[in-house]
Amino acid sequence: FIKRVAAAALAAAVAAGLTGCGSVTSGKRIIRVSHAQSETHPEHIGLLAFKEYVEERLGDKYEVQIFPNEILGSAQKAIELTQTGAIDFVVAGTANLETFAGVYEIFSMPYLFDSEDVYKSVMQDTDYMEKVYESTDEAGFRVVTWYNAGVRNFYAKTPIHTPDDLKGKKIRVQQSPASVAMVNAFGAAAAPMGFGEVYTAIQQGVIDGAENNELALTNNKHGEVAKYYAYNKHQMVPDMLVANLKFLNGLSPEEYQVFKDAAALSTEVELEEWDKSIEEAKDIAQNKMGVEFIDVDVDAFKQKVLPLHETMLKDNPKIVDLYNHIQEINEKAKGGKQDGDNA
Ligand code: GCU
Repeated sequence: FIKRVAAAALAAAVAAGLTGCGSVTSGKRIIRVSHAQSETHPEHIGLLAFKEYVEERLGDKYEVQIFPNEILGSAQKAIELTQTGAIDFVVAGTANLETFAGVYEIFSMPYLFDSEDVYKSVMQDTDYMEKVYESTDEAGFRVVTWYNAGVRNFYAKTPIHTPDDLKGKKIRVQQSPASVAMVNAFGAAAAPMGFGEVYTAIQQGVIDGAENNELALTNNKHGEVAKYYAYNKHQMVPDMLVANLKFLNGLSPEEYQVFKDAAALSTEVELEEWDKSIEEAKDIAQNKMGVEFIDVDVDAFKQKVLPLHETMLKDNPKIVDLYNHIQEINEKAKGGKQDGDNA
């Protein structure tokens, strides 16, 4: 509770210091970056590289301040602050962007990517993704880069071995209609809520479990209250670094390039840190927190929700192009593997 009050007070102070368009102290423009993770999370480390890169080149003019742990507000609140320009950048999962641009719903589609390699190659294709990134311009913000947020899996207070084990369970999902539909299609009851509320909800038995990458167990301590983590691999939902559009448009071409390069560098750093962090998290969750990792028949889970592909494509024409693009890459990867196997 005290932490919340302190955070609210800080957020209020920050907001008061701003009149909707960033702030200037000691002659420098302060750039505020908000994210939801702890200071050991790969995204925070990536953002430190962003800060350093920008300040090395434009430090006489800009100072980058990073606010972790949702201290400026939950993802949805922080996106609103980025829309108005009260803060300049926010890291938000695409699930939180669905309501602003329909195309982002694609990433909530279960079993969209055949592998992590396909996922990464799609996301790293910056020429293609730029078109997607512009889709929120009307809402007043634009994505500048992406971060790996891993593979999402179910975890709960009781073991999950088969899709049937999800039946009747109340599972937290992100505030995304597509994720609600997915969890319901698995036969569970979806409980959408903000990330920061999940720990207490599991602890108090309001929900039976949730779904996320392994870092939720350690960085967010969910492994203290949910001891079974099943590798059913239903989604890979990226996080996006989102910028206020007026801020971007107000930069000179040279400055804009510095911010874009800094963003690309932060992704490089984040991706490297990610793989290390997951290994560490698994070790800590298993050996220090007593979490059991369960390997399951992924295909059994996949079959349950595959019909959602067709429904989602029919209901949302905005995802069709990107869906077809991803399927092409899925197919190519399959071809590549077969050649390799035969060789
Ligand atoms: C991950 C992801 C966040 C997301 C969170 C959630 O931590 O990186 O962007 O908000 O999951 O499930 O809400």
